[in-house]
Amino acid sequence: MKIHPLTLKDYDAIINLWKAAGLPFKPRGRDSKEAIARQMQENPDFFLGVFDENEQLIGVAILSCDGRKGWINRLAVHPKYQRRGIAKRLITEGEKTLRKRGVQIFCALIEDYNEISKSLFRKCGYVEHKDIIYFSKRDNEEV
Ligand SMILES: CC(C)(COP(=O)(O)OP(=O)(O)OC[C@H]1O[C@@H](n2cnc3c(N)ncnc32)[C@H](O)[C@@H]1OP(=O)(O)O)[C@@H](O)C(=O)NCCC(=O)NCCS
Repeated sequence: MKIHPLTLKDYDAIINLWKAAGLPFKPRGRDSKEAIARQMQENPDFFLGVFDENEQLIGVAILSCDGRKGWINRLAVHPKYQRRGIAKRLITEGEKTLRKRGVQIFCALIEDYNEISKSLFRKCGYVEHKDIIYFSKRDNEEV
């Protein structure tokens, strides 16, 4: 198993992995090929992939950084490879990458129903903030 940055050549594999894992994504918005290409160009090290011995993509995470906090987004592991510590490894690698940008606060937005993901982030030392409600404003529903 290897972990290394992804490139645009991996785009279809990323989409297939999100589908296999049942992770919602925005194919006409921030996860479109054009949007991902732009994000990769700006921050090539923010796209982390885990590959099996046949170079098949089995885990993915997209990092982002707003200059104050670092975010772990779109984390997914292929169902056949789940529960082997791959997500934990992606989170650790993601934090390392974000620390290089000077970030000291690491965050993730998790749907309240996603007990597995909440358990994962708790295991990785993240603290849940039940008193905070996420507000957002969108130019359209696809973004
Ligand atoms: C969430 C997800 C990425 C976890 O990937 P994973 O590689 O299986 O996770 P790990 O093996 O690193 O597990 C780490 C911890 O997560 C939790 N966890 C993982 N799978 C679990 C399961 N099936 N049931 C309960 N807890 C689970 C446990 O706390 C586990 O720690 P433990 O093994 O010491 O008990 C994976 O289940 C997935 O892709 N889910 C669908 C997409 C998704 O919901 N992504 C998160 C968006 S915020």
